[in-house]
Amino acid sequence: MIQFSEQERDAIYKVIFSRRDVREGFLPKPIPEDVLTRILEAAHHAGSVGFMQPWNFIVIDNVLIKQRVKSIFLEENKQASQNYDGERKKLYESLKLEGILEAPINVAITCEHKRGGNHVLGRNTIPETDLFSTCCAIQNLWLAARSEGIGAGWVSIIDPEKVKKRLGIPDSVSLVAYLCLGYVKEFAAQPLLETIGWRSRLPLHDVIFRNEWKQS
Ligand SMILES: Cc1cc2nc3c(=O)[nH]c(=O)nc-3n(C[C@H](O)[C@H](O)[C@H](O)COP(=O)(O)O)c2cc1C
Repeated sequence: MIQFSEQERDAIYKVIFSRRDVREGFLPKPIPEDVLTRILEAAHHAGSVGFMQPWNFIVIDNVLIKQRVKSIFLEENKQASQNYDGERKKLYESLKLEGILEAPINVAITCEHKRGGNHVLGRNTIPETDLFSTCCAIQNLWLAARSEGIGAGWVSIIDPEKVKKRLGIPDSVSLVAYLCLGYVKEFAAQPLLETIGWRSRLPLHDVIFRNEWKQS
């Protein structure tokens, strides 16, 4: 059995606690192919329901494609800002919520629902387990990137159908995430939304119940 030394264990927690969603401060330094492959390999080693591995990773470095995705973001972000009024709206509009053009690489992560045939072991009653599996791969990618000094930012303020069309993704496949990846000068110590007072981390004891809902 593989054992972890204390130092190795600490490294795992260190990468988890220092992971950040990064939208600004990307450096133009390219990500070497071997580093990108390591990160994608880590993503590809995520758990998946029935081992279906429903994900694909579309690595994007084409400026024209990035520009189209950025324009889709801008349209959607204008809409999204309508959810707020007054000071909150002003604050929302001041936020940098993507790094599509600045990040040297964007990665679209998809989920092919039919991979593995009509029935996938374990995917009986919860069909969304294919999407959950894809999210596990994304988290692996995010953590592996952090350990390489590479920031990743998840851009969800997009119309997935428009992005799918631009990337040639078939109707039957879902776009789960659109990530911006690149080396960064630094990783913030806490989430940006916490720093600006938008929302703070819930106390751990508020999210843990014992035996039954809301029981401590
Ligand atoms: C599913 C998902 C979608 C997200 N979409 C966006 C987004 O569109 N724009 C953005 O700036 N951050 C986005 N984020 C990042 C979150 O705001 C961020 O994870 C959260 O504020 C905590 O910060 P941290 O990731 O740095 O710990 C997304 C994160 C997740 C998990």
